[in-house]
Amino acid sequence: MDEKVFLCASSALENSGRAVPFDVNYEGMTSKAFAVRYKGGVQAYLNRCAHIPMEMDYQENRFFDESGKWLMCATHGAVYAPETGQCVEGPCRKNLVKIDLNESNGNVYWHTTHNLKTVIF
Ligand code: FES
Repeated sequence: MDEKVFLCASSALENSGRAVPFDVNYEGMTSKAFAVRYKGGVQAYLNRCAHIPMEMDYQENRFFDESGKWLMCATHGAVYAPETGQCVEGPCRKNLVKIDLNESNGNVYWHTTHNLKTVIF
C-alpha cells in the first residue's frame, strides 16, 4: 500500500534554495533523492541525471542554476524544469524521475509507489 512519509518541515525549503536530500528504494536499489521549493510549490526527484545516471548537485544540495529558474546537472550542464523535471536543454534526452510530495500543516511528505519505497536500514 502506498504511504506518506514525513520528509521535512515546510520551512526547510525556500524558493529556489537548497534542497533537502533523502534516500529512497527505487526499483529495489537505494537511491538519493532531493526536494526543492520553486514558486511556492514543493517538488522532488531522484538525484539521478537523465544523461548519465549520476548525482547532479554541483555543491551539496544545490541544484538550481544562478537564475534560480532551472535545475542543472553539474557534470555536463543538463537543464531541467523545476516543476516537472522535464529536460529542457543539454545532453539529457529523458526527464528526471519525479517523486510525489504534498505539504500539510507545515510539513512536507513524500509518497511511496509500487517501485518507490522507504529504505529499511
Ligand atoms: S551526467 Fe548530467 S549532464 Fe551529463
